[in-house]
Amino acid sequence: MQYGHFDNEHREYVIDRIDLPTSWTNYLGTEDMVGVVNHTAGGYVFYKSAEYHRITRFRPNGTPMDRPGHYIYLRDDDTGEYWSVSWQPVGLPLGKARYTCRHGLSYSVYECEYAGIYAKQTLFIPRGENVELWDLEIENRSGRARSLSVFSYAEFSFHHIDMDNRNFQMSLYAAGASYADGVIQQELHYEENGFQYFTADFTPDSFDTVRDSFIGPYRSETNPLGVEKGSLGGNTEKGGNQCAGLHKRFSLTAGAGLRACFMLGEGNAAAGNRVREKFTAPESRDAALAALAAYWDEKLSALQVNTPSQAMNTMLNIWTLYQSEVNVMFSRFASFIEVGGRTGLGYRDTAQDSMTVQHSNPAQCRLRILQLLRGLTKEGYGLHLFQPEWFEEKKQPAFRSPTVIPTPGRDEMIHGLKDACSDDALWLITSIVEYIRETGDDAFAGLPVAYADGPEDTVYEHMKTILDFSARMVGRNGVCQGLRADWNDCLNLGGGESAMVSFLHVWALEHFAELARHLGRTEDAEHYGALRQKVIAVCEEKLWDGEWYLRGFTASGRPIGTSGDAEGKVHLESNAWAVLSGCAGRQRGEKAMDAVAEYLGTPWGLCLNAPAYTVIDDEIGFVTRVYPGLKENGAIFSHPNPWAWAAECRLGRGKRAMELYDALCPYNQNDKIEVRRAEPYSYCQFVTGPSHRHFGEAHHPFMTGTGGWSYYATTRFILGLRPQFGGLVVDPCIPPEWEGFSLTRRFRGAEYRIRVENPQHVCRGVVQIYIDGEAVDSIPVLPEGGAADVRVVLGSKEEA
Ligand code: GLC
Repeated sequence: MQYGHFDNEHREYVIDRIDLPTSWTNYLGTEDMVGVVNHTAGGYVFYKSAEYHRITRFRPNGTPMDRPGHYIYLRDDDTGEYWSVSWQPVGLPLGKARYTCRHGLSYSVYECEYAGIYAKQTLFIPRGENVELWDLEIENRSGRARSLSVFSYAEFSFHHIDMDNRNFQMSLYAAGASYADGVIQQELHYEENGFQYFTADFTPDSFDTVRDSFIGPYRSETNPLGVEKGSLGGNTEKGGNQCAGLHKRFSLTAGAGLRACFMLGEGNAAAGNRVREKFTAPESRDAALAALAAYWDEKLSALQVNTPSQAMNTMLNIWTLYQSEVNVMFSRFASFIEVGGRTGLGYRDTAQDSMTVQHSNPAQCRLRILQLLRGLTKEGYGLHLFQPEWFEEKKQPAFRSPTVIPTPGRDEMIHGLKDACSDDALWLITSIVEYIRETGDDAFAGLPVAYADGPEDTVYEHMKTILDFSARMVGRNGVCQGLRADWNDCLNLGGGESAMVSFLHVWALEHFAELARHLGRTEDAEHYGALRQKVIAVCEEKLWDGEWYLRGFTASGRPIGTSGDAEGKVHLESNAWAVLSGCAGRQRGEKAMDAVAEYLGTPWGLCLNAPAYTVIDDEIGFVTRVYPGLKENGAIFSHPNPWAWAAECRLGRGKRAMELYDALCPYNQNDKIEVRRAEPYSYCQFVTGPSHRHFGEAHHPFMTGTGGWSYYATTRFILGLRPQFGGLVVDPCIPPEWEGFSLTRRFRGAEYRIRVENPQHVCRGVVQIYIDGEAVDSIPVLPEGGAADVRVVLGSKEEA
């Protein structure tokens, strides 16, 4: 069943059938003010922090689903009938009204047509301003004159997630609102600058700032009393709950239309008046929306591909880059699932995310990498979850609580080894090396950064500290200890050992040794190169199970993921990483990935492990306490799937890589929404596995490393485009039936127009490269501002 379609020309996903089984979300904002909204304008906005500075309230995980939001109501003043521009909250019967939603890059559009009135609400946050615009267009298509009213509604929040969800004995008496000249100002009395405003480009006929009087007793956003009456109560109050209710009456002759705009912003009434002036002319809003489109044009133009796969083109050219950018911009803690209860930077997630959009957002990736280096302990592990502000020079208290909450001391912020995860900081190595390859900024390695708990040293020395930590922290087999967890949050091996982390170590060592060589640090290149060989030898000796690789050992020395196991027999992470890291030789690599296909393959992608655990085993970890088929216990956990695509490419099996890509690809599930349920334009954290009755149902869109990894694995391995210190490598691994593909890539300020031809229908093997018609051996760095046509011919150097 299909609910919508991809409109690639406008870079939008269009929801044609609005009664979706679940919320399909989108992100607004590209800077400090951020919104998360769904297909019915439900959702919330915050300023900088979803934990400390929420502007509007959201009641997550509730019924009715995902309320409140940023709603506009229309009312026919002749009949008293009213509806909302987004389908919810009024929820007119869909036989009588036409509703659509279009999610675009950093904006969402809600359209409705009812009783001859067409209305369109566009939500977006213009660049350079901390305001969400609710741009409204109305057209009278009824063929007769109409008297209508328009109402806005949003519910303000008490800023801090805790103040907003508990401790009402304080918050209910310390927040209020005032109104003057068409501007509502919400006031968080306990904060020095605790102001929000709500205004419009018109002078309202009535207003209300008191939520309970707007909604009325025993009512909800579906049937608010203020809208029903056709006029708002004009209330302001010190204390209670505040809302953003403005109302305007207007008449439209047949065929006439109008534009109006509500504005929800960070700051006091004076800020509201300034912004109101700026965006009152509709042209100024059009220009702001166009500027947002130009911002995305610039990013997307860093890489555009044209392959025989429409799914891949749509995802890479628009949605997967968008998803990856969203993660790098806002971290992973603002969605309808993660609702701000924890924020900051998750070490491993951020380290991986910052590897993926370096071509389109180098500045933000660089910032994230530096923040993570600052969150590295001198012992060599990363702070698993931390606020970068802890280490900023001029620290502004993000939020001052009116109740006494002891301020954590430095020691509590910097957790000990017992809370360290074995993989966290290892991810950063490759992110840094890739950053230098992408930008050519060798000096980055020499930047001084202080450790979280210690002295300053260079980026380069931090990298050695990380690699040395993993070399030191091994268990009885010489494999890296699992510690609190490895990449898999639910595999809690403590002093047991994690195969995946040793493989990750191998991968990081390879990248680091290359960097050391590039920087002329020959001794380091040799030392870490030798360490890599040593780790590989341990892995090959201790981790091969006969048909596939183990997942590790428990603290008591029991192997995990072995052929003798009835549950958790085969695991995806260790097998994919054995190959992706370059550790496994060809024969073992192929066997391991064949076992992955056989035991973990489903039409929706690869399961994380199988068979799912049903018997609790705390030596393995929390994974055995998760219901079978969900999350880390036998679900199709999305994030590691691209590792398998990359692994298949390392083996030269382009057909298999593409099959696996296609299985997980949300685009391909656009017509299976009765099963998938979630949005088809975003990868989800996991898809329910075969051992659960909701097999195929996807959960947790956007906030997953899958976006970044899908982008990375597809571009670097399937399409084979890999930036190097001294140029570009193009070494694709594609299905043999592909005739070829083309792409344009911006690299160090020059444009590479690349065409790959596959006349012999191989998977892999470059036989000739031409630049502007001339045969060359490699693709160099072009002068800044330059451009070149690159032709890459594949052929049978390797068997398909
Ligand atoms: C979640 C976490 C991530 C972890 C993964 C697997 O996505 O954010 O850190 O690696 O689950 O447990």
